[in-house]
Parts: sequence; structure tokens; C-alpha cells
Amino acid sequence: MLVENNVPLQQYNTFGIVAKAQMLVRAQSVQDVRDLISSPELAGQPVFVLGGGSNIVITGDVKPVVLKMEIKGLRLVEETDKAWIIEAGAGEVWHDAVAWSIEHGFPGLENLALIPGTVGAAPVQNIGAYGIELQDRFDSLDAVDLATGQSFSLDAAQCAFGYRDSVFKHAPQSPEASGALPRGMGLAGRAVITHVRFRLSKQWKPELGYADLERKRIETGVSEPTARQIFNWVCEIRRAKLPDPAVIGNAGSFFKNPTVTEYQCADIIAREPKIVHYPMADGSIKLAAGWLIDSCGWKGKSIGKAGVYEKQALVLVNRGSGEDSVTGGEVMTLARAIQTSVYERFGIRLEPEPVVV
Ligand code: EPU
Repeated sequence: MLVENNVPLQQYNTFGIVAKAQMLVRAQSVQDVRDLISSPELAGQPVFVLGGGSNIVITGDVKPVVLKMEIKGLRLVEETDKAWIIEAGAGEVWHDAVAWSIEHGFPGLENLALIPGTVGAAPVQNIGAYGIELQDRFDSLDAVDLATGQSFSLDAAQCAFGYRDSVFKHAPQSPEASGALPRGMGLAGRAVITHVRFRLSKQWKPELGYADLERKRIETGVSEPTARQIFNWVCEIRRAKLPDPAVIGNAGSFFKNPTVTEYQCADIIAREPKIVHYPMADGSIKLAAGWLIDSCGWKGKSIGKAGVYEKQALVLVNRGSGEDSVTGGEVMTLARAIQTSVYERFGIRLEPEPVVV
């Protein structure tokens, strides 16, 4: 276990916000996590788990102990008649894990290519793109209970996945609760994910329902694409409309796409006939937050050094650089101004996607 003090976090968050961790611990193994929990100096202190830093807004120096997950490893752990089960260490870069699975002939994760962040962060917000969510390919995960140091595994039901949501985003009902962790219990700040396993069916079928992929299929004339082909298409689509965090700091989509009832939607359509909306299986309607923000005229606008990306209004970006980077406060001020104008025009409350630290 390596413990460092006053560690600059700018290179560890994709927004590029300048901040420091008072104390940062790198975990390269499950044992490192246990050592942190049992260390006389650090035991019992609040812990903030940092993966790729691609879904956080840091609003000041971070006081909890920052646990930087660096557990590596990619392997096939099981093969059945029906599926391959692959396992990745929480510290692997998500895109590298997807590329590895495609290269080794285990298709199924291709639609999730190029999503920033680490493997360990992926289940926390049930990452999703181009018609697939992590939960569709998930088998199970291993985690360590930060209160007791015990390892435990969770299946999909126990992770309580929802749209950009899981048990890891919710506060524990009782901070003192220990022992076996029941289904649905909040695990935010209470557990750290160490390994994630994916069940990839041998009955692979391309998932091309999303309009951008359908367009690629038509443009290229490839009617039956391979997983590698779809992987390449997804990379091209994302590069064309989402900013590369290595060039322009950002945290991906800043707001969740809101859902409304059919009745609410009919009311909005009557006023805004062009609104982009998708009917969901449960009868609710999902609205495109990017369209709502765009319609309020925010695309390309800035408050201080926090900006709205020119090509995708759902993405907030860092218009500064180096020491003169955007602050978390500026990002949140811009976010609140956007929320207010969307609420005033459409009566819809947008909910931020990233975790505010
Ligand atoms: N739109 C606009 N103006 C904009 C942005 C979008 O009119 O400035 C319209 C688009 O024309 C389109 C609709 O809104 O009709 C939806 O836009 P897009 O297809 O770009 O997808 P999204 O709903 O904005 C979601 C995810 C992305 C994911 C894409 C592709 C959320 C919050 N975001 O974006 O995820 O990559 O679908 O599946 O669900 C992320 O979570 O960080 C992320 C990038």
C-alpha cells in the first residue's frame, strides 16, 4: 500500500479541475484495500474511491482519503456451451478491456467502446451507449466492504441496476450496518469494487437499433457487421460528436436523459412539436436532455471557464487549461443555470449524472 500526501488531482479527473487530495492511497491488489482498512492511521476515516475520474466534478480539495483503484488483470475465467465469462480488474481502463475482449474473440461489449473511465466505475453508474447498458452483459462483481475488510460478490439483481444507477450510488441506510450485505442496500462509500465479470453469449447478435449505428450500416453497405466492425463504428461516432478529454476536459453527458409520463409528454409535444422523445418499455417516455438544453440556446455558451460543448449540448467542458482550468464551482454554476432555463421552459428538472465531490 502506497500512501501519498497533498497529491494534485488535475491529471486524475477528466474535467481537468485543479484540486488536491490530502491523502491518496493506491490500491494495486485486494490486499492493499485491506491494509488501508486495517491501518491504525487510516482505519475508520471516510474514503472516496477514484477510478478514471471521468464522472466527477471536484469542488475543492478532497478531504476523505482518496483510494485510487489500480487493480489490473484481464482474463477468461469460465467457458460454457453458451457463454464466455471474462473478468477485469477494477483499475483497468474501460476501453482497453473492451478492446481486449474483441481481440480475444469474446464479442458483446463493442457498443460500449471508448466510454471514458475504469472497469470498476462502470457498474457504479451502469454505463450505457448505443442500445446497450453494462447490466445487459454483466455477470457478477467482487467488492470489499470498507467497514470490515471482508470481500463479497454481487450478482446483477443485488447491484440493483437502473438507468445510470446502481446500489453503489446510494447511501447506506444505516452507516453502522455490517455483516452480510442485503440486496438493494445502499453501498456508496461503504464498499469498493475490485473485479467485474461479464457474461458474453456465444449466440452473439449485433445490436444496431440505435440511429447512429443504423446510419453507419447504410453508409458502408455492410449489412452483417462483425463485433470488430461495430467497435470501429462506435469509436468513429463518439470521436465525431464527443470531446476527447485528453484535448478538452469534460465528464461525458452531464445530465441524465429525463423520463416523463405519456400524459406529461403529450402536454410538452403540444407546445414543442419537435421535441426528441423515445417511448420506453414501461410506458414512460425518455426525453433527450441534449435537445432540451440545445433548444434553450445553451450550445457553445460559457459561464466563466465552464462551457457547453458546441457539438453536443449535453456535455459541459473545461474552457481553461493548466493552472487556469475551470473550477468545480464554475461547472456547478453553469449546470444550475441550465437546469433553471430548462425548468422554466419545459417544466422538467434535469438531474446531473456525475458525482459532485
Ligand atoms: N440533441 C440535440 N442537440 C444536442 C444534443 C443532442 O438536438 O446538442 C438530440 C440529438 O439530435 C438526438 C438526441 O438529442 O436526437 C439524443 O442525442 P444523442 O444521440 O447524442 O444521445 P444522448 O441522449 O445525448 C446518450 C448517453 C450517452 C451515449 C449516447 C449514445 C445519457 C445521459 N447519455 O446521449 O452517454 O453515449 O446516448 O448511446 O444517457 C455518457 O453517459 O457520458 C454518455 C456520453
